[in-house]
Amino acid sequence: MVEKILIIGSLGQVGQELFESLKSSYGASNVIASDVKDGVNIEGRYEKLDILDKSALFDLVKKNGITQVYNLAALLSATAEKHPRFGWDLTIEGQFNVLNLAKEGHIKKIFWPSSIAVFGPTTPKDQTPQQTIIEPNTVYGIGKLAGEMWNKYYFEKYGVDVRGVRFPGLIGWKSLPGGGTTDYAVDIFYSALRGEKFDCFLREDTELPMMHMEDAIRATREIMEASADEVKLRTCYNIAAMNFDPKGLAAEIKARIPDFEISYNPDFRQDIAATWPRSIEDSPARNDWSWKEKYDLKGLVDNMIENLKGKV
Ligand code: SER
Repeated sequence: MVEKILIIGSLGQVGQELFESLKSSYGASNVIASDVKDGVNIEGRYEKLDILDKSALFDLVKKNGITQVYNLAALLSATAEKHPRFGWDLTIEGQFNVLNLAKEGHIKKIFWPSSIAVFGPTTPKDQTPQQTIIEPNTVYGIGKLAGEMWNKYYFEKYGVDVRGVRFPGLIGWKSLPGGGTTDYAVDIFYSALRGEKFDCFLREDTELPMMHMEDAIRATREIMEASADEVKLRTCYNIAAMNFDPKGLAAEIKARIPDFEISYNPDFRQDIAATWPRSIEDSPARNDWSWKEKYDLKGLVDNMIENLKGKV
């Protein structure tokens, strides 16, 4: 059977790259990108969709015989703090709309991204395990944790095949993030390549888990393509690749662009970052569906500079 795929939130940092990746495997006619924006001109099929509009979502799914949904609609951590109620609604009401379509038998499989933001100030910070103290204190983290639990509930009670991972900060050269606490780790490359000083909104010693976007897209594809019995956890899996702080990233950039300069001006995002882990333990993902990263910090910095050089 031919899979028909719908990406919701396809104009975001993950969505743009996932759309290209899925089109190249499943064929451009079988993958539909959707987001709330009008008049979008991208290569391939695009539909304007507000995930909170239940009947519009249903119509799109039925009309196109959608079998799989990748629900990437969310406000990231920093933006959600400014719009708490909308951040929650988008995450939770949106996912209910998708989960209920699967419960009613209209779609077969769902991908839902969670985040290291599910962890909070009381979580052990180093090598944070899959199952640990989870008491997030951000709007984004609370929504992601609740979503994980609802996914598990729908899997256990209604047999809905929903899968997900907890993304760390994601860094790629094809798309830009927006509204996240880890965004500095993308923006820094643009400043460095433009010969500009970079003013970092996190403190120099704020170590966080990070990952190259190529690895994140591969993780997404691999968990969706794994057989149902390999996906033993129906919350979301920890996945890890590297950890660094702004000072360490800046040093790697400086080793390649000697004139690069950085200053530090922590803002409210420092308080968000301070509640997240420094590193992640991800053996369940490695054991259950063979997760393995390709990029470490040096590989990531080489790859970002190489690819952004011509672009910036
Ligand atoms: N990159 C996200 C953020 O900073 C974390 O999942 O909000």
